[in-house]
Amino acid sequence: MPCVMLDVHSTLAAAPAAPHVVRREDYRPPDWLVPDIALDFDLAPGATRVSAKLSVTRNGAHDRPLRLDGDALTPVAVAVDGKAIHDWRSESGQLVIDLPGDAHIVETEVVIAPATNTQLMGLYASGGLLCTQCEAEGFRRITFFPDRPDVLSRYTVRMAADRAAYPVLLANGDNVANGDGIEAGGRHWAQWTDPFPKPSYLFALVAGDLHANRDSFTTMSGRVVELGIWVRAADVAKTAHAMAALKTAMRWDEDVYGREYDLGVFNIVAVDDFNFGAMENKGLNIFNSRYILADPDTATDVDYDGVAGVVAHEYFHNWSGNRVTCRDWFQLSLKEGFTVFRDQCFMADQGSAAVKRIEDVRGLRASQFQEDAGPLAHPIRPESYMEIGNFYTATVYSKGAEVIRMLHTLLGDERFRACTDVYFERHDGEAATCEDFVRAMEDGGDIDLARFRRWYEQAGTPRLKATLRHSNDKTVVTLEQSVPPTPGQPVKQPMLLPVRLALIDRDTGAKRGEQLHVLEDERAELSFSGFATRPVLSINRGFSAPVVVETDRSQADLAFLSAHDDDPFARYEATQQLMLDTLIAAVSAGRGDHAAVVNAVGATLVDPLLDPAFVAEAVLLPSEAFVGDQMLVVDPVSIASARDSLRMALAQAHAAEWQRLYKSHSDRAFEYSPAEKGARRMRNVALGYLAAADEADGARTALAQFEAADNMTDRMGALGTLANGSSTARDVALAAFHDRYRDNALVIDKWFSVQALSTRPDTGDAVAALVRHADFSLTNPNRFRALVGAFSVNQRAFHGSDGQGYALLAEQIVALDPINPQTAAKMVPALGRWRRFDEGRQALMRAALERIVSTPGLSKDVFEQASKSLG
Ligand code: PHE
Ligand code: ZN
Repeated sequence: MPCVMLDVHSTLAAAPAAPHVVRREDYRPPDWLVPDIALDFDLAPGATRVSAKLSVTRNGAHDRPLRLDGDALTPVAVAVDGKAIHDWRSESGQLVIDLPGDAHIVETEVVIAPATNTQLMGLYASGGLLCTQCEAEGFRRITFFPDRPDVLSRYTVRMAADRAAYPVLLANGDNVANGDGIEAGGRHWAQWTDPFPKPSYLFALVAGDLHANRDSFTTMSGRVVELGIWVRAADVAKTAHAMAALKTAMRWDEDVYGREYDLGVFNIVAVDDFNFGAMENKGLNIFNSRYILADPDTATDVDYDGVAGVVAHEYFHNWSGNRVTCRDWFQLSLKEGFTVFRDQCFMADQGSAAVKRIEDVRGLRASQFQEDAGPLAHPIRPESYMEIGNFYTATVYSKGAEVIRMLHTLLGDERFRACTDVYFERHDGEAATCEDFVRAMEDGGDIDLARFRRWYEQAGTPRLKATLRHSNDKTVVTLEQSVPPTPGQPVKQPMLLPVRLALIDRDTGAKRGEQLHVLEDERAELSFSGFATRPVLSINRGFSAPVVVETDRSQADLAFLSAHDDDPFARYEATQQLMLDTLIAAVSAGRGDHAAVVNAVGATLVDPLLDPAFVAEAVLLPSEAFVGDQMLVVDPVSIASARDSLRMALAQAHAAEWQRLYKSHSDRAFEYSPAEKGARRMRNVALGYLAAADEADGARTALAQFEAADNMTDRMGALGTLANGSSTARDVALAAFHDRYRDNALVIDKWFSVQALSTRPDTGDAVAALVRHADFSLTNPNRFRALVGAFSVNQRAFHGSDGQGYALLAEQIVALDPINPQTAAKMVPALGRWRRFDEGRQALMRAALERIVSTPGLSKDVFEQASKSLG
């Protein structure tokens, strides 16, 4: 075919007056299948020629034409069965060809420009590399193809590139042939084949000057897999943790799910510019570098955990996502909810399961509960979308994981495993649905999940009300549930809620009636006997159902559970509830009674049986945002001052304890182990309280810690404390930090975030200055999220009553949209929460949203989020 160079611009879709809405009920199987595809890439950053050869077969009896998706592509040449054709049509981006018979070879050629692809979807350039991102609909920006997950093909990929600039050429599957500098002009080539049929969203290639940390893994059946983690030469030393996590995850999936890796090679590449965390492309995972690179000097313990969790997550997708993929994008939670559940369990097995559960629930409440309570609420299996990129949400991921966890809870370990065996065996090599998954659970577990299916249909966080009556020898617990209305779903059916509960005798500490009660109706009464006095209710133990719980437990009950509940989550929860009740009372009354919280925290701090990692979580107050979520109208100023004064009370009442805890967890050499991680966490929580009690003294301690730290957790712990204050040490530390890490983008992200998250009253102004800092960038999603994303979740700063925070966010979204609409759209929900605030803020937030919606040429990504947010 001829090779014509075209000047191809990445054209953004103009703000569609009425963007096309895709509906789940409209699903139809594909008209044409593509069993095989051969791709040939002539790679160069300015212009890459892509030749594709598709074997297409008619699927079923119909006379519809072949439609190949294309996004900002212009065909240079089209051929059918070896002959150039010219009677193809272009219809809303699709390449349409009338084909007479049932099987043909269709060839197309396009030229694309990775260097100017700032959307980071399709083939793009990042830090001297060329790489791809195809999920969900990026493959259509590379070549013409039926770009939907139920079209599975065997891929052969050949790529040629300048050998000096791109010495390493990687793609999915196995490397089957290479040509080293054979071609003219210093170009070399490589050929890869992937024997497993896969949807186009799992296609990947990478070219660049990469260096590998190489290792190997022997699978349970004795096959040796070559492992490679590919990064810049200088970063190879930072890949040891990711490699260790990968091997642990591979063994875990064999042990826990019986799932073995299936190719001879497993490669991971780290790139600096990436819209999400990482991507599970078959045999060639591509990662945001923040989830690969870690060493003690640059990564915190949270970063280390993030690396291990995401490496495991993407690896686990090889079965839950790749071997069994999704029929359509409405089924996204089929792979994501399940895989998040798998990575959560994996991480729980690597350290403290109790602390992991607390962290996961805290994350769920911070993002998913907010989503469920706002204008963008949707079920884990949505019914419609304008832009699928907007549905990679906390609901699909985190609530999706809770839904799988409930199935696990209902079935138990062994039966759940039997069910996943049924699922994987039944659907291996297929594009499946959420319904297929539920049916595999029913068949493998001999259970009726008719009611349970509502979790896939209804949005909104269920409320569970539990009350306890006691008289003479009889105790009755009443459970009542309701699901709040959400957009498009005014009336809800009751959900199936697995509720773990127990009663505890206040005098003897004896626990009775522990059970998993499956609440299927609106209301249930549970009777108990044998308590001489009114027992204390421990409910939703382990957070067995993702609900908001409301009880009639007194402060004394909560204090008792805070000291005695044997379920660590419920114990944590009792302390949190006590804190919440206190804060909410303080916000409405203007001043609070801190005694109960002060006593409960005091008891927790001196309990010798508790793990420091647990104590550190249990003594932290709920976030300002979470307090706001409990109120009818969020009052950011009152919440901040109520929380500050409770924090001050805790700091002063236990000053000696914070000192003791700080000292006893200091002077330890760095080690990444659950025990040392817990010690660092406790130490840094104590430091925060020390600074709250006495800012000057706290700042001295923090600066000393900052300067002596042998690891990033302690350095950031100190910097975070300093950043909230106004000591001169603050400026010293911020400047020293920037100086030391000026060449490390991932660490400079932290420097931006720590300022955007500051509790100082001038944080809004600081952020307004930082968006003009030389290191701020709209083209790097990590940097944008580090500053703008962090600011938008800093309740007291972002919701300043003058509306400057809203205006800044709107301005940044509008600025980012033409560059990277997907990342821009992710920032809109912060404004979409306007209904939760007072009239003044509502007007300002709406004005910001209106400013966004009225921007000419807006992407459909941002348009969907902003217009739905206005309601
Ligand atoms: N599928 C990726 C995951 O593992 C997320 C992702 C979505 C990455 C879209 C890139 C683009 O969760
Ligand atoms: Zn995933």
